[in-house]
Amino acid sequence: MARRHLITDAGTVVTEILVDGGIAADPSLVLPAGEERRRVAVLTQPGSHPIGTALAAALAGAGTETAVETLPDGEAAKSLAAVERVYRSLNTLGLTRHDLIVGVGGGALTDVAGFVAGTYLRGVDLVLVPTTLLGAVDAAIGGKTAVNVDGKNLAGVFHHPRRVLVDLDVLDRLPVTLIRHGAAEALKAGLVGDPELVDRYEAVGLAAPLEEVVDRAIAVKAAVVSADPGERGTRAWLNYGHTVGHAVEVAAGLGHGEAVAVGMVAAGAASAMMAGFAEADRVVDLIGSLGLPVAAPGLDPGEVRRLIALDKKRDASGLRMTLLRAVGDPVVTAVDPATVDAALAAIGIA
Ligand SMILES: NC(=O)c1ccc[n+]([C@@H]2O[C@H](COP(=O)([O-])OP(=O)(O)OC[C@H]3O[C@@H](n4cnc5c(N)ncnc54)[C@H](O)[C@@H]3O)[C@@H](O)[C@H]2O)c1
Ligand SMILES: [Zn+2]
Repeated sequence: MARRHLITDAGTVVTEILVDGGIAADPSLVLPAGEERRRVAVLTQPGSHPIGTALAAALAGAGTETAVETLPDGEAAKSLAAVERVYRSLNTLGLTRHDLIVGVGGGALTDVAGFVAGTYLRGVDLVLVPTTLLGAVDAAIGGKTAVNVDGKNLAGVFHHPRRVLVDLDVLDRLPVTLIRHGAAEALKAGLVGDPELVDRYEAVGLAAPLEEVVDRAIAVKAAVVSADPGERGTRAWLNYGHTVGHAVEVAAGLGHGEAVAVGMVAAGAASAMMAGFAEADRVVDLIGSLGLPVAAPGLDPGEVRRLIALDKKRDASGLRMTLLRAVGDPVVTAVDPATVDAALAAIGIA
């Protein structure tokens, strides 16, 4: 059954999210009647290329001048060098501010497509078609865009997509590894805002129906983002597991979902220490039972600490982390060095 979620900013709808089967190549959802666009640039990555070219062919068939640009795979797309190459191909296409950029791919691709759309000509409209579970439940939603500069996501702009099309048939065909990576971010959404989603994963593991997982995780993200679109406060709840996660992602070369899994183990230990969280062990067991890593041993502790210090979630007073008082009850708080040590020890870094 088709589902619709909205992201609002001060009461105004900024993004419409549609969840349904068979919608990834529907040109009428990318260009609804009444939206005149002469040109569309479709950005893809290797894993989403067939889906992107099918959509581009459908758009061309509907009379739109269409170009497809395929970026390097994974994090390699999130670089200023890759962004510059896309800018040049948009110059060649002659894209204007009245035209459209469509990002078709996983979170790395939608992050960079958003960065390009937010900066080219000071902002071009964007539609996203997430093709990984992680992209569908998290990366494609909320308007955060980024490229990596040493640390993860250190350069970016806020630029909301007009529309996000989550095609459940595309997600149903994903390999289990990508379902697992997406489960990490969906579990994060459950931990900060939907205890029932945590219960579901505990009961049935990765067999949790994608339709339900997607719907629940998007509902959490849409509510949290709509309450604080510019991340002045509560939106930082969605960073649960990411302070340490981003550091081990870079240091260990893990996939983002795996790194967030490890980061949530570290954050659980910090939560037990500083916020009275009584379910840290339960969450470690659950993460492990999903086949996600619960530790990142063998890393250089100094390197991990340096990467943590590079993280954006810091202010003049030091490092701030999102912790849990209970499942569904997050809090953002300053953490002292002893807590960071305990969090790192919990994932095998000492
Ligand atoms: N902006 C945000 O709010 C936000 C939130 C969460 C994560 N992120 C970012 O998302 C990224 C991780 O996303 P990801 O895990 O989707 O990574 P990804 O985009 O690198 O995709 C993972 C792999 O899946 C392949 N792929 C894509 N679609 C496929 C399909 N349908 N079938 C088979 N393979 C396919 C890709 O080519 C790639 O090799 C990270 O860079 C992270 O920082 C951003
Ligand atoms: Zn993430």
